Amino acid sequence: MDQSRIRNFCIIAHIDHGKSTLADRLIERCGAIRGTAQEQMLDSMDIERERGITIKMAAVRLLYTAKDGETYQLNLIDTPGHVDFTYEVSRALFACEGALLVVDASQGVEAQTIANASMAMNQNLEIIPVINKIDLPHADIARAKEEIENAVAIDATDAIPCSAKSGIGIDDILEAIVARIPAPGGDPNGRLRALIYDSHFDAYQGAVAYVRVKDGRVKKGDRIMMMATGNKFDVDSTGHFGPGLTVNKGLDTGDVGFITAAMKSIGDARVGDTVTNADDPADVALPGYRKALSMVFCGLYPSDGDQYVSLRDAIDKLKLNDASLDFEPETSAALGFGFRCGFLGLLHMEIARERLEREFALDLILTAPSVDYRLTMKNGEEIHIANPADWPDPNDIASVEEPMVTATIMVPQEYVGACMTLCQERRGIYVKTEYPTPQRVILHYVLPLGEILLDFFDKLKSSTRGYASFDYDLSDYALSNLVKVDILLNGDPVDALSFIVHKDFAYNRGRAMVERLRQVVPRQQYEVRVQAAIGAKVIAADTIKPFRKNVIAKCYGGDITRKRKLLEKQKEGKKRMKQIGSIELPQEAFLSVLKVA
Ligand code: GTP
Repeated sequence: MDQSRIRNFCIIAHIDHGKSTLADRLIERCGAIRGTAQEQMLDSMDIERERGITIKMAAVRLLYTAKDGETYQLNLIDTPGHVDFTYEVSRALFACEGALLVVDASQGVEAQTIANASMAMNQNLEIIPVINKIDLPHADIARAKEEIENAVAIDATDAIPCSAKSGIGIDDILEAIVARIPAPGGDPNGRLRALIYDSHFDAYQGAVAYVRVKDGRVKKGDRIMMMATGNKFDVDSTGHFGPGLTVNKGLDTGDVGFITAAMKSIGDARVGDTVTNADDPADVALPGYRKALSMVFCGLYPSDGDQYVSLRDAIDKLKLNDASLDFEPETSAALGFGFRCGFLGLLHMEIARERLEREFALDLILTAPSVDYRLTMKNGEEIHIANPADWPDPNDIASVEEPMVTATIMVPQEYVGACMTLCQERRGIYVKTEYPTPQRVILHYVLPLGEILLDFFDKLKSSTRGYASFDYDLSDYALSNLVKVDILLNGDPVDALSFIVHKDFAYNRGRAMVERLRQVVPRQQYEVRVQAAIGAKVIAADTIKPFRKNVIAKCYGGDITRKRKLLEKQKEGKKRMKQIGSIELPQEAFLSVLKVA
């Protein structure tokens, strides 16, 4: 395809504003898939379909014959909307010249609309505002336009009204893509430079690098080199996304597609790296991406200690596919052998856990998520602690810093008070307020990341009847007065239950934690004393009364199979329980700290 007739674009939006549905309509209209009524074709993982969200970015090549009679190649890259996956959006943008900015006509601009649009503007992309869901009774196109202009600072005069659901406006969008998004630049006769913007691991083909060719050409049989690592490979195949991998003869300047080259792990196709020709390499690599940083850490343990090796293999396999997952082995006195894993956010953590349990048939215990604290010790050493169990003796600590985020909350005027109260309760530092329209307000706060983990989003939603939207970005570390609260069961500290908290909140949260444990820990054969303590000082205590459910009490008489069945059932119920000394703890116990704020 002639470079002048290629258009590379992505779709960006706040979550649930209809990106995937719009992508489906565009695909359908261009006939990339004929006759399938299947919804959300780009969301291919089971979890994506079930949750109705996009996790892994996908791309698709469409052929569109425009009103000018020419056929254009449109490379569409669908992007995830959840804040955890912002880095995926940032990568997608590197592969595009333009972006459709989808705004729900009934909701208006939300926090991630602004965040994603400003990323696209920083990349100098041509942005086409699309106002979706105009079929809804409370759609308000004029208000959406006003908000786009005031909050995103883009001219919305030519915003395209559409309904991805009923198909209104789809042709207008396709025409706008052709007319308004520039064709890719780059030198077709230059030395090969292709940017890896994503990758996945395939059991047969090895790592598959998703690339955008910026200069030159690549085809099967070429010897390529990764410019960051210097590793060389022979190209097995190239292709585009049909959707699905469709092998072709080669990728030219401006193309979006994939390369396979018997790369053994995803580390060989590092996202952000530049692919060049090994025999005639380019002088300068393309600018890389923003590196995805782990923000949330937790321990992952098999509930059955025998599954440790299987868990290790499963995490290894998951990592092949998910370059943003970090992990290292750790040992807990309470839980035995497991792993400390780093995630982009809580949703990423949930998804990883679900995939490990489903795809690898594991039964896991997760410990409470923590952030990465920076400690300066009295001997001058600086250490990072992401596991409360590793917290050093307070007498040795000179100062503690915690990660902070800059948060943007977009909310109707009447809920501003509730949002401010919540932010203050979470040690937020007020920055400023903006008023994009008379009804809506944007609040800017700096908040400790650790406080956001504690149910912040749910609390924000419930205190604003679901109207607030929220986005955040890691900013910097700030000094803080933090202490470790230990939880003791019958006098023994359980390392996996300890947590780090601001000194002013230690008493309240310690008490709430004890109360919560009393509720979630089932009665045992013995009385269980639950205590929260800072060092040797107990700050809260309660007891769980003993109780034993004799499930076979009802089965007097001889039916041994029935007894066995009941005992089996009881055993099933004990899954996801972890024996700590003589006490059995359910999974909820380990996540109790999330509910104590
Ligand atoms: P993520 O992938 O999770 O970021 O969400 P998304 O932005 O891709 O949204 P998605 O396409 O999954 O749509 C969210 C919901 O809005 C779904 O229930 C869609 O059926 C619905 N929806 C999308 N477009 C329209 C539309 O034009 N009209 C109406 N009424 N509903 C729509």
